[in-house]
Amino acid sequence: MRRIGILTGGGDAPGLNAAIKAAVIRAEEEGFAIVGISRGWEGLLEEGLEDGRLLDAQMVRKIDREGGTTLGSSRTNPYAVKIDGSIKDRSDEVLHNIERLALDAVIAMGGEDTLGVANRLAKQGAPMVGVPKTIDKDLSGTDYSLGFDTALHNNTTIIEWCRTPAGSHRWVQVVEVMGRHAGHLAFWSGVAGGADIILIPEIPYRYEQLLDLLQQKMESAGFGSRRVSRYAVVVVSEGAVVEGGDLVTVDKSVDAFGHVKLGGIGRVVSDWIRKETKYDSRVVVPGYAQRGGPPSPVDRLMGFLFGTAAVGAVKKSLWGKMVSAKGIAPACRMSLVPLDEAVGKLNLLDTEAYYDSNRYNARRDWYLDVES
Ligand code: F6P
Repeated sequence: MRRIGILTGGGDAPGLNAAIKAAVIRAEEEGFAIVGISRGWEGLLEEGLEDGRLLDAQMVRKIDREGGTTLGSSRTNPYAVKIDGSIKDRSDEVLHNIERLALDAVIAMGGEDTLGVANRLAKQGAPMVGVPKTIDKDLSGTDYSLGFDTALHNNTTIIEWCRTPAGSHRWVQVVEVMGRHAGHLAFWSGVAGGADIILIPEIPYRYEQLLDLLQQKMESAGFGSRRVSRYAVVVVSEGAVVEGGDLVTVDKSVDAFGHVKLGGIGRVVSDWIRKETKYDSRVVVPGYAQRGGPPSPVDRLMGFLFGTAAVGAVKKSLWGKMVSAKGIAPACRMSLVPLDEAVGKLNLLDTEAYYDSNRYNARRDWYLDVES
């Protein structure tokens, strides 16, 4: 019987469990065994081997209803493992353990880091298939990555909930959301939640412009209205930077993939507003709650499609590929792209198409494109 290992790496995301369930069910139908590997690549390093366990349809029956990942996750990078203060490449142990567990394939579900490792291992001969997962939506080669829709939904709700206190107290309410390099999550949840200003990593912001836009919102009547609302909602991506400035980080540490821990830009913007303008301001940072809770129907559907398609790729022995979505469920087609393409470059927000950098918000002149 062919054996498929399955793992989830990086930040957890709603929809992963739906993908795991779909892969297990499809694998059973195809006569494959599925071995669940705990905590991402960590589970394929020697000390985690005992965690590899056989999964069956009965065991995963209910997991698609839950967020997170039933397999657990880590940011372990087998090419750079910290041991006694030095960094060691332990990828040969991963390759060795794939053999020891008699795995004919490994389905890795993750973002740029997890799939970057899968790509390197595939180049060393490992039978790898990737599944796209990141609430940041910054993987290339696919229209969708698991978790984005639920995070979008969560953030839109949070932005909406911030509106009444902000309106009652005449605050500028700043909401800091996730998105390390790409502004997809900040932008689309800001637009959906009706934010007045959206600051994204792709376009550095300027305080003079921020002030000008705030004045317009706080003191003049809005579009189509004669009433002045006297409050504003500003959505800031954690990766946004002021022109000529640096990323705001939690501390100076970096993870195994060299990423700094972002966080604090919302506080910086809110403090600036309170100190440098006549407006009062508050900040809300939903943090990990953004990727918490049950998956949205879209994430459950996409998990189902990705998980099923990944086993299809295994069946055909198509290694070094990522399952890819053209469109989003229910209008969605599955295909495969090389992992190289998925992780080669980041998929950033198409600011030319969508972002008005004068208004720090969505373009309103899309109709021009329609006419031309
Ligand atoms: O990549 C997904 C993500 O949620 C980013 O938006 C965020 O910067 C990062 O993970 C948080 O990292 P961690 O889960 O390690 O704190």
